Parts: sequence; structure tokens; C-alpha cells
Amino acid sequence: MIPIAETLLDWYACHGRHDLPWRQNRDPYQLWLAEIMLQQTQVESAKPYYARFLQALPNWQALAAAPQDRVLALWSGLGYYARARNAQRAAQEVVTRFGGHFPNTLEAAVTLPGVGRSTAAAVLASAYGQRQAILDANARRVLIRSHAIEADPKVSATQQWLWTLASALTPEDAHGYNQAIQDLGALICTPRQPRCTACPLVNRCLAHAQGRSHALPVTVNKAPK
Ligand code: ADE
Repeated sequence: MIPIAETLLDWYACHGRHDLPWRQNRDPYQLWLAEIMLQQTQVESAKPYYARFLQALPNWQALAAAPQDRVLALWSGLGYYARARNAQRAAQEVVTRFGGHFPNTLEAAVTLPGVGRSTAAAVLASAYGQRQAILDANARRVLIRSHAIEADPKVSATQQWLWTLASALTPEDAHGYNQAIQDLGALICTPRQPRCTACPLVNRCLAHAQGRSHALPVTVNKAPK
């Protein structure tokens, strides 16, 4: 196996957040809903909303058929309400276009409203066991630091390079690996005060070797015109 993956999977086995509610089963609806909520909401804030939402609307059909007011009420407090409207439209499309099953290819999954490449990949890896790389904020920060990438991550060429890197590093067990890299980013390789001494990648992290962990990822401010 690719060494970084093996190291991360070993670390995850001991230190991962195995008890997160969306890690208790492989139901595509539940996994997709978690990814949508977690796009702009912290794990601890999302938990009670996630539980209430699933209780009220437990599957694609229930969400597709619910009055929009009810969906928005269940989302109330989470913010970014376009997510809730997109989520309902996505559920309607899963029912009408995909026979009630989350599509099983990346190309089809990203046609759903609110589903970007990383969200689609996370669901396909965990629900269907596919080897699909993710590149959410946590995974991106880990890759940028471990490879000391100085290029602006907002630039599309950098993003393409990061996707290529993410795909190359992702092993067959993408489900486990994706959760491991997310947890490393959330718990150890944090934005402001990375806990490098507790990091399983410390010996192969180029940013750490260069004393640049705090400085990466770079934030590039556009020059005023
Ligand atoms: N952030 C985005 N997806 C996540 C997941 N599946 N677990 C924890 N944090 C996440």
C-alpha cells in the first residue's frame, strides 16, 4: 500500500472519531445528508440537526415529498439555506432521475444540486466502496502541508494538481482513508495551531521539515486595483 495511506489508516484505527453519527452505517442518503450539512457547519453544531432531520425525513422519498417549509424549519439555525433547498431538489432528482438510488458514478452524482466533486466522492467511497479521493478543506490542508505546496490553492491549476495528488494517494480502502485524512485535518493538522508532535506524518511532512507548517496553506490576497 502507499505508505502515507497505511500510516493514516493505522493512526485512524487508534485516534479516529469512530463514534460520529454518520459513520455508523453506509446508507447513501444518510452519508449524503451528513456531507451536505458538514460543507459549511462544524461537526459538533451539525450533530443535533442531523439527528432531527433524519428522524423527520429518513429517506430520499420523504425529503423529496416534504413541504419546503418543513425542510427549511428542520434546517433553521444551520444557515446557508440554499443548501436546504438544493438538498430537497437533489432528493427529488434521486427519486425521479435515478430510481431512488444515489447515482453510482462521479459524473452522474455531481449533476445533483449542491453536490460537488468532493461531496460526491465521499458518498461513493463510503456508500459503495469505490476508490474515490476527497478534497475537502481538511484533506486539502493535510496535502498542502505534507507536500509543502506553496502555490495558491484558489487557483485552478493548483486545484487540479491537488486532485491529482489526492487521487494518487488514495488507496483501495478509500472509505477508511478519507475519514482518516479528514480526522487528521480536524484534530491534528488544524488551521492555526497544528499539533505536529502528535502527527503520524511528522517524519514525512515537508512543511514541518521546512518549519513552514504555520505558514501553509498560503493565503493570497488579491492586490487592490
Ligand atoms: N467533514 C466533511 N465530511 C465529514 C465527515 N464525513 N466526517 C467528519 N467531518 C467531515
